[in-house]
Amino acid sequence: MPTKSLRNFATELSFANEELKKLDAAKSEFISIAGHQLRTPLTVIKGYTSMVLEGSFGKIPESIKEALNRVLISSGALAKLVSDLLDLSRIESGKIRYEFKEIDMEAIVRGVMQELEETARAKGIMLELRNENIKDAKLVGDFDKLHEVIINLMDNAIKYSSKGSVTISLKKRLAGDASHIVVSVSDQGMGIKPEDIPKMFVKFGRTEEAKKVIEDHKGRVSVESPGPGQGSTFFIELPTSRN
Ligand SMILES: Nc1ncnc2c1ncn2[C@@H]1O[C@H](COP(=O)(O)OP(=O)(O)O)[C@@H](O)[C@H]1O
Ligand SMILES: [Mg+2]
Repeated sequence: MPTKSLRNFATELSFANEELKKLDAAKSEFISIAGHQLRTPLTVIKGYTSMVLEGSFGKIPESIKEALNRVLISSGALAKLVSDLLDLSRIESGKIRYEFKEIDMEAIVRGVMQELEETARAKGIMLELRNENIKDAKLVGDFDKLHEVIINLMDNAIKYSSKGSVTISLKKRLAGDASHIVVSVSDQGMGIKPEDIPKMFVKFGRTEEAKKVIEDHKGRVSVESPGPGQGSTFFIELPTSRN
């Protein structure tokens, strides 16, 4: 009986879906617990290493100082990873805390360009800002969260390019009473395969985080790429007010 087997199939699918949801929740919880438990010992390692370095336990020779500095740098890097991991698990469980206020998107973009100037220069990639029609790019949003989103888009554009330039453009789009600011980041790098485009914002990663942050600002993210080797453009569209 075709209808019956279809119904059975639907039931099986819904069981499988429930199982997946449970597994996903277990994964997020694991990351959160592991992250918090890693943080405490790391703080102790960093704290004592700094104290020894500063001479709190007596004078130490230069050679040991150098070794301890390496310990300090590596434990700092590890702490950064743990904090990124915790950010991601917070985002997964939907618990991001935002601080909305009037901010200037152009200030964020200019700041990010400065921060990544050296990285781009080292790869021989030009960073360009194109301000299309904007007198002011003010909007209501969370400065730090939007800064993270833009820095990752620009960082990716540089990381996945071996030549050319990375262009960031700011545009204002008016539709009826609403006005939107559109930020786009284009590169001439490795591009994205058509079949990977729909997966772009759904995997566990920074791009997924970006989608969440932008949607929490009532905005939209999208990506276009003509194909492998032909670069990509990421778009962020944000309403200038939150209502
Ligand atoms: N500008 C880009 N060009 C090509 N691929 C990209 C670009 N930006 C992102 N991607 C792809 O999307 C993935 C997810 O990006 P992201 O979450 O920022 O991770 P990561 O920076 O650690 O690679 C990347 O690993 C890469 O495969
Ligand atoms: Mg990235």
